[in-house]
Amino acid sequence: MKILVLNGPNLARLDLRDSSIYGSMTFPDLITFITAEAAELGFNADVRQTDSESQMIQWLHEAADSQLPVVINPAAFTHYSYAIRDAAELVKSPVIEVHLSNPLAREEFRHTSVISGIATGTIAGFGPDSYRLALLALARLIK
Ligand code: DQA
Repeated sequence: MKILVLNGPNLARLDLRDSSIYGSMTFPDLITFITAEAAELGFNADVRQTDSESQMIQWLHEAADSQLPVVINPAAFTHYSYAIRDAAELVKSPVIEVHLSNPLAREEFRHTSVISGIATGTIAGFGPDSYRLALLALARLIK
């Protein structure tokens, strides 16, 4: 089964971000990790990243139109993008929000997620394993 794993701004530059927060996996490594974990659970994961709000909205529309489950790390969009929230709300398959770090343990502006309220669930703070746990949750929900 095909799923979309959508990643927001600056996540393609994980190698340049604070490794004490985001760990040492590069984004290409993260794609390999997610794809392999997904395959073990019987998912064909299409892993994408964009720095553009418009592109992210188009991908969420695609998920809604094609009834695809979504794992999404909205990155900084998490904290303010009502447009992405509204687009994610159109997806009737499960939408799982993930974060590498635990935003609630960080700066106050990260304590708000405008996405969580429409997500099926949220997993945060486990590094790349946040994605793995999201995929596991998805497998349990769907199968
Ligand atoms: C993040 C957390 C966000 O606050 C931040 O803006 C990101 C990454 C995470 O995966 O921990 O870019 O979503």
